[in-house]
Amino acid sequence: NMQIFENIHPLRNWRRLMVREEKLIGFVPTMGSLHEGHLSLIKQANKLCKAVAVSIFVNPAQFAPNEDLDKYPRSLSDDLAKLSAINCVDAVFLPKVEDIYPAGITLDVEKQLGTFVEVKGKSHQMEGQSRPTFFRGVATVVTKLFNIVQPDHVFFGQKDIQQCAVIKNLIRDLHFPLELHVGPTLREEDGLAMSSRNKYLTPEMRKVAAILYQSLNAVKHAFEQNIRDRKNLLAPAYDLIENKSKFIKDQNLDFSIKLDYLSLADPESLQELDEVGENGAILSGALYIGTTRILDNLLLNCK
Ligand code: PAJ
Repeated sequence: NMQIFENIHPLRNWRRLMVREEKLIGFVPTMGSLHEGHLSLIKQANKLCKAVAVSIFVNPAQFAPNEDLDKYPRSLSDDLAKLSAINCVDAVFLPKVEDIYPAGITLDVEKQLGTFVEVKGKSHQMEGQSRPTFFRGVATVVTKLFNIVQPDHVFFGQKDIQQCAVIKNLIRDLHFPLELHVGPTLREEDGLAMSSRNKYLTPEMRKVAAILYQSLNAVKHAFEQNIRDRKNLLAPAYDLIENKSKFIKDQNLDFSIKLDYLSLADPESLQELDEVGENGAILSGALYIGTTRILDNLLLNCK
């Protein structure tokens, strides 16, 4: 029996009731446009927790002014149908922007009012290079949601691996009494990581979108052949993407692809590596397909 909460106060009452019934609370924050990746985290929460809460909130603070806040896919009735169908959600939280940001929210960081959370040391590398204020927005909204829901267990996807690192440090640094769980990346048949933003891809774009995963896999393959230095590890990925880009031009398709970055980073510090050592590496990349930016990662031998 799934309850829907649009306001903070009734959700807090629900939470109190769950605590009184001695039910562990699991929480999965999302921005909606739900797919199997989201649902897998919710199912994981349901295995561990008697009370499962899911939030759907497109968080303005994590979008830069030039990004896709206005056209970010929203499909509330589909989302609620999916959540209801899997039969493991107890509470859905659908807050309003005004309630999450009482001081208001503008995308211009310089003009923002109110309280913001920065996880320094984990937010500026990789995704943070391309999106400098992104993790500040994520850490801020996640702090607010954790304070509202006060869960015992929270569930995030490896798909957004740096987000997991940011949340891990956020929990540690702000002493949230909860446990973080990281779920595996769910993929389409051809390997493309599921993402709400995949809805932006036209059928022609969708056909080439698996190139990012294929490129990361080519690096993983090289790693398995005992190649350890950055240049030789990443070369097959750059080659595959360049070839695909040429192919798209030759076919006269009405879009192009452009690599944003490839990263081979230390799993702890997230600093770029010249050579993969004992600790393994996070291999990640972001690729523009037309104006849509897709993101993916694989772990290389991480403990
Ligand atoms: P969103 O992109 O909706 O993702 C919600 C959760 O689902 C995140 O933990 C994300 O890593 C996970 N997820 C996304 N795609 C996945 C896939 N293919 N397989 C497994 N898990 C996947 O991430 C956000 O929202 C926001 O930044 C949020 C944390 C909600 C803060 O606004």
